[in-house]
Amino acid sequence: MPERSRERAITVCVENGEARLSMRDVALPPLGPREVRVRTAAVALNYRDIAMMSGKSIDRPGRAYIPFSDACGIVEAVGDGVTQWQPGDRVCSLFFPEWIAGSLSPESRRPLGAGRDGVGQTAFAAAEQALVAAPPHLSAIEAATLPCAGLTAWNAVMYSGVAQPGSVVLVQGTGGVSLFALQFAKMAGAAVLVTSSSDAKLQQARMLGADGGINYRDNSEWSLRALSMTDGRGLDLVIEVGGAGTFAESLKAIRLGGAISVVGMLSGAVEPIDIRHIYGKNARIRGITVGSREMFEAMNRALVQHQMHPVVGHVLPWEEADAAMEAMQRGDIVGKIVLDFGVA
Ligand SMILES: NC(=O)c1ccc[n+]([C@@H]2O[C@H](COP(=O)([O-])OP(=O)(O)OC[C@H]3O[C@@H](n4cnc5c(N)ncnc54)[C@H](OP(=O)(O)O)[C@@H]3O)[C@@H](O)[C@H]2O)c1
Repeated sequence: MPERSRERAITVCVENGEARLSMRDVALPPLGPREVRVRTAAVALNYRDIAMMSGKSIDRPGRAYIPFSDACGIVEAVGDGVTQWQPGDRVCSLFFPEWIAGSLSPESRRPLGAGRDGVGQTAFAAAEQALVAAPPHLSAIEAATLPCAGLTAWNAVMYSGVAQPGSVVLVQGTGGVSLFALQFAKMAGAAVLVTSSSDAKLQQARMLGADGGINYRDNSEWSLRALSMTDGRGLDLVIEVGGAGTFAESLKAIRLGGAISVVGMLSGAVEPIDIRHIYGKNARIRGITVGSREMFEAMNRALVQHQMHPVVGHVLPWEEADAAMEAMQRGDIVGKIVLDFGVA
């Protein structure tokens, strides 16, 4: 009988509303047909990982679970009938393992690391279609940032229908999704404005190609600045990650026929909206939930073509997941925070 693979896993246990992170041994069952075992090389953190632990997210499971959705690793073993992968291949996890193409469905709306175990372990098993080849020009650390933040930004920018040469895209904040959105909007030929709470971070965004910045702490009505920076025309696209307190500003800041990709709710999920701004502006509002495997493959082709590298801000050994979560919570690092599993 094939042996189980003995591994170590990061575990989150939520008790009485308090999340505790620990390490434990896990035994992966023998591979089933069309399954692949991946030796984890790197795992990237996202805001949702801390939101789930703090109970802010609706999909927090009421049990101990293995967190994280974003991994790059090396195929170690393949089950019967696997045709796409062989040992040694470098792969990334898929945030929604069942979302292959087309629209998200109730059946495919089952993300890793929420309600089902994630990739925060020394090896994980995945269905062969739930993996994507890592772009060869990226390190494992860099490729681990793609499954959630990268793909979300790709979907939000490239499928908006308005990011193109001559257009102006505004990205809110300098977090993981927003920096990817900045890079993709530049790739599409658009000019990019960035909002941030910090002038120093705006300066860093400039170095990554941003054409202008607005400090949203000093300018709570930043739509006025965005309108004046576009000579009164308005923005073609806003990558909306703030939610409450920013969505109304985004509506005011877009041009007639402009678009808003609704991604996040960093400052809350509920605020009153004057719907006249929606129809009066002919606004195109699109909700984003990461993306499909098909979108991931399209993104990877673009990354290779443009030799684009994700912005990585901090790398820690995977055993220091606690410290990585604290750094994520502090929010003072520009660029993705990644756990290194020490696999070459
Ligand atoms: N729908 C989806 O599929 C999807 C996928 C990924 C993420 N998300 C959501 O998108 C949001 C961002 O995620 P992330 O992983 O990129 O987070 P992150 O890396 O932790 O980014 C946080 C940054 O957002 C900025 N920010 C916070 N409040 C803001 C506000 N009111 N206005 C403008 N910027 C603000 C801050 O930038 P400064 O420090 O520069 O001020 C902060 O550093 C979260 O709500 C997350 O849950 C959704």
